[in-house]
Amino acid sequence: MFRLRKYRYYVFFAAIVVFLLYRVVQNSDEWETVSASIPHTGPSSKLRPPPASNIVADHRADAFIENFSTEDDDLPRKILDNTGKENPIKDPDVATAQRAGTGHDDEVPLDSPTNLNVPDRKVGDGAHGAESQPGKVAITATHWEKVPENFPVPNSDIIPLPAGKPKTIPTIQYAFEKESRKVKEIREARQQLVKAEMKRSWAGYWKYAKGHDELSPVTGKFRDPFCGWAATLVDSLDTLWIMGMKDEFEEALVEVEKIDFTIGKRSEIPVFETTIRYLGGLVAAYDISGGHDGGYKILLKKARELAEILMGAFDTPNRMPLLYYNWNPHFASQPKRASSRAGVAELGSLAMEFTRLAQITNENRYYDAVARITNAFYEWQERGTSIPGIFPENVDTTGCNRTAQNELEAARSAAEFEAYDETEDDIFEDSDKIERSAKESILPECVSQGLTSASWGVEQYSMGGSQDSTYEYFPKQWLLLGGLEPKYKELHLKVTEAVKKWLLYRPMVPDDRDALFSAKITTRGEPETDANMQYEVTHLTCFIGGMFGMSGKIFERPGDVEIGKKLTEGCVWAYESTPTGIMPEGALVLPCQDANDCHWNMTRYMQNLDPSYEIRALRIKEYDEKKAKAKASREEGNKSARHLTSSANKAGNANDDDTEVQRSDLEDDESPILGQKTEVSRSLASDLHDSDPAPGFTRSHNHQAPLHEDEDMVEEDPLRPLSHEEFVTQKMQNENLPLGFVDVNSKAYILRPEAIESVWYMYRITGDKHWQEKGWKMFEAIVRYTTTEIGNSAITSVLAKDTTQLNEMESFWTAETLKYFYLLYSEPNVVSLDDWVLNTEAHPFKRPKTSFDI
Ligand SMILES: *[C@@H]1O[C@H](CO)[C@@H](O)[C@H](O)[C@H]1NC(C)=O
Ligand SMILES: *[C@@H]1O[C@H](CO)[C@@H](O)[C@H](O)[C@H]1NC(C)=O
Ligand SMILES: *[C@@H]1O[C@H](CO)[C@@H](O)[C@H](O)[C@H]1NC(C)=O
Ligand SMILES: *[C@@H]1O[C@H](CO)[C@@H](O)[C@H](O)[C@H]1NC(C)=O
Repeated sequence: MFRLRKYRYYVFFAAIVVFLLYRVVQNSDEWETVSASIPHTGPSSKLRPPPASNIVADHRADAFIENFSTEDDDLPRKILDNTGKENPIKDPDVATAQRAGTGHDDEVPLDSPTNLNVPDRKVGDGAHGAESQPGKVAITATHWEKVPENFPVPNSDIIPLPAGKPKTIPTIQYAFEKESRKVKEIREARQQLVKAEMKRSWAGYWKYAKGHDELSPVTGKFRDPFCGWAATLVDSLDTLWIMGMKDEFEEALVEVEKIDFTIGKRSEIPVFETTIRYLGGLVAAYDISGGHDGGYKILLKKARELAEILMGAFDTPNRMPLLYYNWNPHFASQPKRASSRAGVAELGSLAMEFTRLAQITNENRYYDAVARITNAFYEWQERGTSIPGIFPENVDTTGCNRTAQNELEAARSAAEFEAYDETEDDIFEDSDKIERSAKESILPECVSQGLTSASWGVEQYSMGGSQDSTYEYFPKQWLLLGGLEPKYKELHLKVTEAVKKWLLYRPMVPDDRDALFSAKITTRGEPETDANMQYEVTHLTCFIGGMFGMSGKIFERPGDVEIGKKLTEGCVWAYESTPTGIMPEGALVLPCQDANDCHWNMTRYMQNLDPSYEIRALRIKEYDEKKAKAKASREEGNKSARHLTSSANKAGNANDDDTEVQRSDLEDDESPILGQKTEVSRSLASDLHDSDPAPGFTRSHNHQAPLHEDEDMVEEDPLRPLSHEEFVTQKMQNENLPLGFVDVNSKAYILRPEAIESVWYMYRITGDKHWQEKGWKMFEAIVRYTTTEIGNSAITSVLAKDTTQLNEMESFWTAETLKYFYLLYSEPNVVSLDDWVLNTEAHPFKRPKTSFDI
């Protein structure tokens, strides 16, 4: 009940925030600037772990949102909520639901609160509450209209696609020899089983969720987290084609034709998700079905319609995109700057989709849009970050140097007070440095700068959530441009140098296998001295094996291919280690002390699970001594009736002391790894507070001798401190911790593709059948635990065989995961890496073979 009340306060507070923001909109033309400066702290991109959702958890108490969410919807977020750091006052549904029923497109101000809502790549946060019954009237829509750009790029400044004949690029795929009949039979049988799974999931989507973004695979309902433009349908088109499901493909195109991208169920378009899933999906389906000659023109038509809307997001003074694009014409037409806090992954992962569209349509402006982002990254990498080569997780994209601005303002006000001061001249000089166009002068003043870190102080660097696909795109974009833009190669090579120097580590695992993972570093800017390493193992980071493998081939760095193998092996290990055979979303392991000579060390592992290991033996000894002393004094009292009173008191004191020992013991158990008390200590704590004193220690108020006295009690005594071994054993049992992991902070599996993605790359690159075998175990495990009657579902925990299904089937299940499994068992020339390059949503784009002639 307490929780319920607490959440009501959140909702109430959220309502106040909504109201205040509404006032801001009313009173200021600079709303967009304001909104741009509200940090997007919400989860974004496939990299970031799923968000916390505190308000939503108990929204059932709040009648006004009840019609927009169901219990099913809450479950994933509750389970996946492992960070607890997200601002709870960010419920899209509060604002949306308030508008529902009365809202019209022109009710502009009420749209604004949803600026606070940041959806979440591949987790479906934005989807929350979107599940609805077929036929039910949907949430108020935004209706797009083309508005004139405030900061157009003059035609003469448009960056063109690099021209020329594509470079000769070393082959990526292994030169496969002809397979034996037996090998072929096994391979094809497996391939058919993968296809059968696709057919099942597709049929479920078609029957229960056609035209909507996602199937809810347990309840047979649907959700619309991605503007309601049929995300799963568009995302899966190329998979249908590749698997030879041509009838389904053509049926789906009828639905594609019905999609109206000018109307959407969200007031902010999540630009990154929309680009990789929808734009990438349409362009790849066009490419793979034969492009111009294939005759499915509707795909290109729809891609252009969508791109036209997305292009509006780039209309800022420095042409950095608004990644949560408020596309309502009233807002879209206002001048505004890009966000002061954008995720690296979202900013850098638009490149391939817009580039391929530019190539197909011969329109350089699509390329221009993303080339400017690349140039900004390139300039930033040259200028330098705390960890040279890679970028901090959050980026200030405003293009405005606040430090310089503050200095300027300080100098100005100083000048006002000292009107005769000579510095006045300097100030005017400074002011001249600010170049401002007419439109820009509507915005607050700005001293221009490139990309910088969004956080003052602590910065995070990793290859995981929120960061990953930007790095993934550098070598892929180089391929897509036929090797004609050297910036991508330079960017990539500096990234791999940094990753090798700072992030890669070999984990200490029970079978001593030679694996690698990529860590996360936190630094205050002096990583040589203040780097804080987190030896994480996250599913999202598993793409990196494929990246190292592929880039090692095209840039002729065999060492990187070897690293790619070990990184992929790491994720395979993580799959093999759990009771379900599926890797968790996020966990921690121990790094080897020496990467070249690493052996499993049980002592070290146990000590890390139990930071108090050193004092446990001592505590047991103290406890036993006290107990013996108490017993001795009681016995003495029993012998001599004259001393009865005093000995009883002594026993009482001993009892208090023991409680002291136990308490401090518990406090020390606060593990730095877990940051919270373990189950073991919790149960001990409740023993302490709720149970009667232990047998043998009954506090005597009436001068009676203790009732029980049993020598065996020493063994069974629940108050006796745990030994190191007992503690570790209990902890591992309580948490279902697989050997090798020191913590599994996010136990879920949400049908993600990254591990099988890298396994597939490794197979195509090395030709080693080992990868097909590993992949098959992964497939069997995933199917075993995620299958529902009508599809496949995310699960709460990979650590328990009786795991719960979460009723979520993200579009990447059919777009990516099943596609990679299928391609692992297809002929190697199906989507050959020497002809195709896949975006971060597994959408294959055709690599150029002839000159661009734009
Ligand atoms: C929820 O929906 C039901 C049925 O459609 C309706 O009667 C009820 O008023 C709605 N509640 C709110 C708070 O809008
Ligand atoms: C911002 O301005 C400060 C102070 O003038 C300067 O030291 C800093 O280098 C500038 N930052 C960038 C990224 O230009
Ligand atoms: C195992 O780890 C413990 C604790 O870190 C250490 O003292 C011991 O030397 C290690 N054993 C081996 C064989 O490295
Ligand atoms: C105390 O004395 C009684 C009788 O003399 C005996 O039965 C009992 O076992 C003694 N208790 C202890 C704890 O020694």
